[in-house]
Amino acid sequence: MARCRICRQKASIFIPHHRLPLCDEHFVSWFENYLRRTIQKFRMFSREARILVAVSGGKDSLVLWKALVKLGYAADGVFIDLGIEDFSFLSRRVVEDFAATLGRKLYVVSLQKELGFGIPALKRRTKKYCSLCGSIKRYFLNWATRKFHYEVLLTGHNLDDEASALLGNVINWSIKYLGRKYPVLPAHSGFPQKAKPLCRFTSFEIQEYAKRQKIKYIKESCPLSSEAKRLVFAEMMDQLEEQMPGTKLRFYLDYLRRAFPIFQEKVEDFLDHKLVTCARCGEPAISSPCFICRLKEEYQGA
Ligand code: AMP
Ligand code: FES
Ligand code: ZN
Ligand code: ZN
Repeated sequence: MARCRICRQKASIFIPHHRLPLCDEHFVSWFENYLRRTIQKFRMFSREARILVAVSGGKDSLVLWKALVKLGYAADGVFIDLGIEDFSFLSRRVVEDFAATLGRKLYVVSLQKELGFGIPALKRRTKKYCSLCGSIKRYFLNWATRKFHYEVLLTGHNLDDEASALLGNVINWSIKYLGRKYPVLPAHSGFPQKAKPLCRFTSFEIQEYAKRQKIKYIKESCPLSSEAKRLVFAEMMDQLEEQMPGTKLRFYLDYLRRAFPIFQEKVEDFLDHKLVTCARCGEPAISSPCFICRLKEEYQGA
């Protein structure tokens, strides 16, 4: 192994995208500096902003939360308890313990409490439970941000997530997604401002930071979702990266710089629905009552 670029001691990691050999200590400070620079570069939020981090119990969102708090941001967390037996139970425990050691506030939103049922009950009724679950999570994350008076909602999406989702959107020419795929989206139509501060970090870098900060996280993914399509694009991106190192970062960053502004200009023409406000819950939706209010009603009538 080479020597650390900063202190010339033995390096413990090599970061290919930046051609950087670093020791443990300087890797951690590189990670936090690069996070701060990403937040500034994309003008994600100010130092004074009230920030809510969506934490799942996985490595990405816990790393994001920890690094932000170390950088001095006042960031609290929100966890959506999906009611998926052991998986949600263990994730919830990990997130609650983590919040206690960080000394930050954590909001737990339980589907059982808010909807009357969890994802397993939804699975028994519809094959589309997995994509519905994604929409339910987004709904309650927006809802919690507003209810608890936060200004920005953050998620732990990383470079691998963003590049593979971008590849999927390009393959399908999903212009309505391409026109909104950016690391920061301002508040609009009742939605809070959203940001993805880990968008320039690879899954590997995040995992290595978690290791060095001794962060305990849930390694298993959801037992109910197959994620087959998502994995195909992720594997394709990994193959491209292996054959042509640097492709992942270039594909994503060049998209943001050169292609996004073009798609963004046209995005309104490609939206399927105009947004309205749900008359029952007050959240932005494509119909009123919104899908959550209708789900609640169906469940009560069942
Ligand atoms: P995923 O789609 O599972 O890769 O998750 C992407 C991001 O969504 C995570 O990094 C979290 O920020 C957020 N997230 C996923 N699941 C939950 C959950 N149950 N509660 C709160 N946030 C979540
Ligand atoms: Fe939603 Fe698994 S996390 S179905
Ligand atoms: Zn060093
Ligand atoms: Zn509603």
